[in-house]
Amino acid sequence: MTKKHYFIETWGCQMNEHDTEKMAGILSEMGYEPTSEVDQADVYLLNTCTIREKAEEKVFSRLGVLKKVKEQRDGDMLIGVAGCVAQQNGGHIFDRAPYVDLVLGTQALKKLPDMIDGIHGHQGRQVDTHKDPKNHLFPASLPKRSSSLRGRVTIMEGCDNYCTYCIVPFTRGRERSRPWQDIRDEVARLADSGYKEIELLGQNVNSYFSSVNFAYLLRALNDISGIEVIRYVSPHPKDFDREVIEAIRDCPKVATNIHLPAQSGNSRILKRMGREYTRELYLDKVAMIREVLDGVPFSLTSDFIVGFPGEKEHEFWDTVTLLDEVGYDRIFSFSYSERPGTGAVKHGDPVPLKEKQYRLKILQQHQAEVQKELMDARVGKAANILVDTVKPGDRYPIAGRTRDNILVHVESEIGNPERFYGQPVNVDIVDTGLHTLRGKLTDHQVKHLAEQVPVEIATA
Ligand code: 5AD
Ligand code: SF4
Repeated sequence: MTKKHYFIETWGCQMNEHDTEKMAGILSEMGYEPTSEVDQADVYLLNTCTIREKAEEKVFSRLGVLKKVKEQRDGDMLIGVAGCVAQQNGGHIFDRAPYVDLVLGTQALKKLPDMIDGIHGHQGRQVDTHKDPKNHLFPASLPKRSSSLRGRVTIMEGCDNYCTYCIVPFTRGRERSRPWQDIRDEVARLADSGYKEIELLGQNVNSYFSSVNFAYLLRALNDISGIEVIRYVSPHPKDFDREVIEAIRDCPKVATNIHLPAQSGNSRILKRMGREYTRELYLDKVAMIREVLDGVPFSLTSDFIVGFPGEKEHEFWDTVTLLDEVGYDRIFSFSYSERPGTGAVKHGDPVPLKEKQYRLKILQQHQAEVQKELMDARVGKAANILVDTVKPGDRYPIAGRTRDNILVHVESEIGNPERFYGQPVNVDIVDTGLHTLRGKLTDHQVKHLAEQVPVEIATA
């Protein structure tokens, strides 16, 4: 019997990447094999994102291409839409793209086998966007992981904040946390299989609560041997309390990049966004983090939206001045995109597209100046990275991230760089670009490598 193949295309956040790993696991259990050839796929899934309008439109133009592939195969290809566009649009996707066979909501992954069987059993097109409050509970063995070094682990799903610009609470549902023992067991299992880094996932990751809180969970996972680095996305500023920051300070494996998405630097706009803090309270939080992490190298990053409905020019400039006041190592900035059904729609008073684009450019230019200075200040310092990229023959044959999540490309002339893969190494930072650093192995590291004895790991 010939093997059946699947292809999954993924857009959006790390949670979507991980959902793809779960769907790949389900399809493998059904006997399907992955393929990298689009026209070889018997099942083709688009795992979609709807955070901004552009992301959503891309899905429909991609579906147009897949329609042609399906026609070339005389209809013998099952096309599915999964992820946030599926959850948001449900069966309406068939109106725009009638050649789609199945629509799989964000909480319906476990239904995939029944839906595929239903289509093969001539039961017609399938759609499932039901809310399953237990969808975050699944066997740890299920995901077919794309990396053998960095393992993604869902700790919670959903969001109860209802920021007025955001579609996520509608596409991912209310907050649900996994029992902490399940998370610990999954991480221990990953460590036993040779994983060195874990990435804890949740739409509101630091509001995790399931008999223990996020701070407790970090401390528990820090004790699991074999794991070198613990990262997490996406946090909310309100849940970075002193207890969490102290846990980050005390746990040497936990990443020290503090992502504190401000969204705006103006208190009136923050109120309209439903962010639960003012500019002043946000700055108090930054001060608390600096106090608790005194002496620990850490980076601060943020997300910003410009051109939120009703944002006056002087209110936008409050966001620009926040960049100076805080000094972010990196920002992710977007122009506001209206999302159907969200609270901001009723605000009206849209900022014209050209003005939004102008504000975005100003903000990014300003950040580039602030960022360059902070990156320059890293030159001459030492850092420890976990090597996750190896390119034999390249001028920088190894690369990895610092504990505070800055990418470092490393020069090395000693032997085969493959042996560094998955290893923590100590480097001296010698040069910098706007987003990445360049380094060389420390003399101490080179000496230990030459003598083939394990090197002591710096905690920086
Ligand atoms: N328009 C523009 N940006 C948005 N984000 C979320 N919703 C929107 C929207 N409607 C941004 C926020 C969030 C990041 C993941 O995406 O900055 O933190
Ligand atoms: Fe996109 Fe948000 Fe859905 Fe992730 S949760 S895929 S970022 S809309």
